[in-house]
Amino acid sequence: MHRRTFLKAGSLVGAAFATRQARAFDLWKNTARKRIALVGTGIRGSSLWGRNLVENYGEQVEFVGLCDINPGRVEFVKGAMGVDCPAYTDFDKMMNEQQPEWVIVTTMDSTHDIYIIRAMELGAHVITEKPMTTTAEKTQAILDAQDRHGKEVLVTFNYRHSPHNTAIKQQLHDGAVGKMTSVDFHWYLNVYHGASYFRRWHGYVKNSGSLWVHKATHHFDLLNWWIDAKPVAVTALGALEHYGKNGPYRGESCRTCPHKNECPYYWDITKDEYLMDLYVDNEEYDGYIRDSCVFREDIDIWDKMSAQIEYDNDVVVNYSLTTYSPYEGYRIAFNGHDGRLDSWEDIPYQRGEYTEAEQGAMHSDEMTFKTDEVPTEFHEIIVHKNFEPEFESIKVPKFRYGHGGGDQRMLDYLFVNPDAADPLGHMAGTTDGAYSVLIGIAARKSIAEGRRVRLDELVKV
Ligand SMILES: NC(=O)c1ccc[n+]([C@@H]2O[C@H](COP(=O)([O-])OP(=O)(O)OC[C@H]3O[C@@H](n4cnc5c(N)ncnc54)[C@H](O)[C@@H]3O)[C@@H](O)[C@H]2O)c1
Repeated sequence: MHRRTFLKAGSLVGAAFATRQARAFDLWKNTARKRIALVGTGIRGSSLWGRNLVENYGEQVEFVGLCDINPGRVEFVKGAMGVDCPAYTDFDKMMNEQQPEWVIVTTMDSTHDIYIIRAMELGAHVITEKPMTTTAEKTQAILDAQDRHGKEVLVTFNYRHSPHNTAIKQQLHDGAVGKMTSVDFHWYLNVYHGASYFRRWHGYVKNSGSLWVHKATHHFDLLNWWIDAKPVAVTALGALEHYGKNGPYRGESCRTCPHKNECPYYWDITKDEYLMDLYVDNEEYDGYIRDSCVFREDIDIWDKMSAQIEYDNDVVVNYSLTTYSPYEGYRIAFNGHDGRLDSWEDIPYQRGEYTEAEQGAMHSDEMTFKTDEVPTEFHEIIVHKNFEPEFESIKVPKFRYGHGGGDQRMLDYLFVNPDAADPLGHMAGTTDGAYSVLIGIAARKSIAEGRRVRLDELVKV
């Protein structure tokens, strides 16, 4: 068997970004510096949407207000961002006093709906972090509010924008597998990143909607975008078998834990000055313990998840999410009548490299915004046509920082080149936000009721 290698995806991706279709965000495009308020000054709000916007997009945006329910945190973040706008704990007061054009929502997932809807009611457009929301009722309320107020709501699906995920989209768009019939998608969170969800507010369905929503919304959005069809039904299985009540011991927090020496999940927050300032110094206001025990008895999210998803173009997806893998990465395959497309990220034995230190750093690298990263590795996409002896290997430059390079490309589109064409449809709104969370919400219902759940039982999109 012969193998052809094409180092073409760099230019392919460049072309895709250069020719985005004009979008309808007229208000966004045609005024000078945008007056922005941000609600939720935690790690994502203060870093990617905070300090990073001030440092790298200062000509395009001006912060007019910051808001959080934690008064200590919002004051600290105001200083860390180096802005002189007022800090608030009352969202309505901020909106009425500052009249921002856009509101960025980076609060805890289950509270996004409150601010998305209220911002529209008070006259602003919205940029919201994923997941758009966590329940069917809140999804319906957001869709209805947008109908009433006619405001823009952009949902920031940064993974779409990574060169690797973009190149997969381009291949499928160009007909790499012909008429698509099924997809295998398996995502592995390593024992550092996976465990981090069980340490934080994410460990409760009422806060995060579970990883079916908080994390898998990224994956379901990629699937919806790649497959280019609507999901219609979900059949799912899930269990909590590793973290939570399954642990052999537990403590209040890692800082005070008597099992520090034996627990493989011991994590020392005191070594990170920024996290100490952001969370530990402000525990007195909301009691939120950032380094909680991953073995808390009351954790109620699943740590093993598996689903079959049916689409309205007859594609069937087999999906799984693992939260305690030795390595972080994913595998995907698209089957079609004309052939198959395979790809993967960061599988160590295929990369020929594994270090524990690198696994430990992967999540913080993913969260770090870098404008000057020079890729030294490639992602690979294999396209193999039926009855053909040769397969194509398409190599895409691999960006490690900022969600595979997706964060920077998404922000450039939002703030620097909003007029650029968008032929692959990278930018996402409430319909995409809704379908991506509804798959996870349907999965929860399917597990609870032991049956196949149709999405149109949940919401009218
Ligand atoms: N796109 C991505 O790749 C990505 C990465 C990380 C986080 N996120 C999203 O960003 C959001 C924030 O996550 P984070 O990691 O920064 O969490 P975090 O805990 O660091 O921050 C959340 C902030 O929201 C505040 N908050 C909680 N409830 C509130 C309420 N009712 N009103 C106002 N503020 C409230 C908290 O005090 C905290 O400051 C989440 O929705 C998360 O899913 C997205």
